Amino acid sequence: MKQVNVQKSKVRKVIIPAAGWGTRFLPMTKIIPKELVPILNRPSIDLLVDEAINSGIEEIILVISTRKQEIMKYFQPNIPLEEELKSKNKWELLKHVKKTNRDAIIRVVYQYEQLGLAHAILTGARFFKNEPFAVILGDDLIKSKIPVIKQMMNEYDKLGSSIVGVQNVEFDKLNKYGIVKPKNISEKNNKLFEISGAVEKPLPQKAPSSKAILGRYIFNYSIVKFLENLDYSNENTGEINLVDCFDKYLKEEKIYAYEFDGKRYDLGSIEGFTMATIDYSLENSDISSTIKKHIMNLASEIYSETALLDLNSEKNKGGK
Ligand code: G1P
Repeated sequence: MKQVNVQKSKVRKVIIPAAGWGTRFLPMTKIIPKELVPILNRPSIDLLVDEAINSGIEEIILVISTRKQEIMKYFQPNIPLEEELKSKNKWELLKHVKKTNRDAIIRVVYQYEQLGLAHAILTGARFFKNEPFAVILGDDLIKSKIPVIKQMMNEYDKLGSSIVGVQNVEFDKLNKYGIVKPKNISEKNNKLFEISGAVEKPLPQKAPSSKAILGRYIFNYSIVKFLENLDYSNENTGEINLVDCFDKYLKEEKIYAYEFDGKRYDLGSIEGFTMATIDYSLENSDISSTIKKHIMNLASEIYSETALLDLNSEKNKGGK
């Protein structure tokens, strides 16, 4: 993903919530924050920070729990390591290590209780003044030519209204996401359309559309008042969903959905993480040819196994 140099956007800040336990990655997440699990040699959160920086974002707010200090350490300089690499003339490695120190301002805000996404965003937006801001969720890694948040910033700068990033998902996966209710959608505006609401993780047969919110948002600051008014004290409701405040917010302001271009990986699941690792390895010139060979060998093994199974089932049929 290349940095896109265009006129400055009105969106300068991004919140990246990263406080959750990462239970699907236990036992590893007993000791390592899920956001530091690597895609090849880079923690996944570094790829999301890249998306923000390559979009022209100037300030990144990482909302973490106090158990996850290592995330902050990753973005701080490690002087003894830098000195060691210098003394051994390992300039290429030094370049990689220094890149993690980052030019954008990276701030950490602690979320002391894990009360869900709405609460994490509210925690991160506490220090914002009246300004729009973006949100990038760590479970949604998106590979694209133009960084997804930049695609949405371009739309925001034209509209001035909040925007959620969506893509179509398969019917049986609709219950995993926030699903938008399009207001009017036509051939002409099927990539950018107003919504009249959203439903968090509906039963597929009750979903208002097939368009799922996939971890990218741009909000006008006015959303903060609505996030503040959600009920975080009711223990019975468990976590508070972000989309729960949309209905009230929509009475005062518009929200648009934007169907972004890009290939999204669900880093919240081990399968998604594995697929991302395979795809990123095929794009890494140092290892791609070895990995390609490995995949081709595997494919031919799988193909012969399947062919053998087919043959046996044909034989069995014939024997009857
Ligand atoms: C969260 C949001 C959901 C969104 C999803 C994207 O759900 O609540 O609306 O569609 O992220 O990945 P979670 O995956 O944290 O349960």
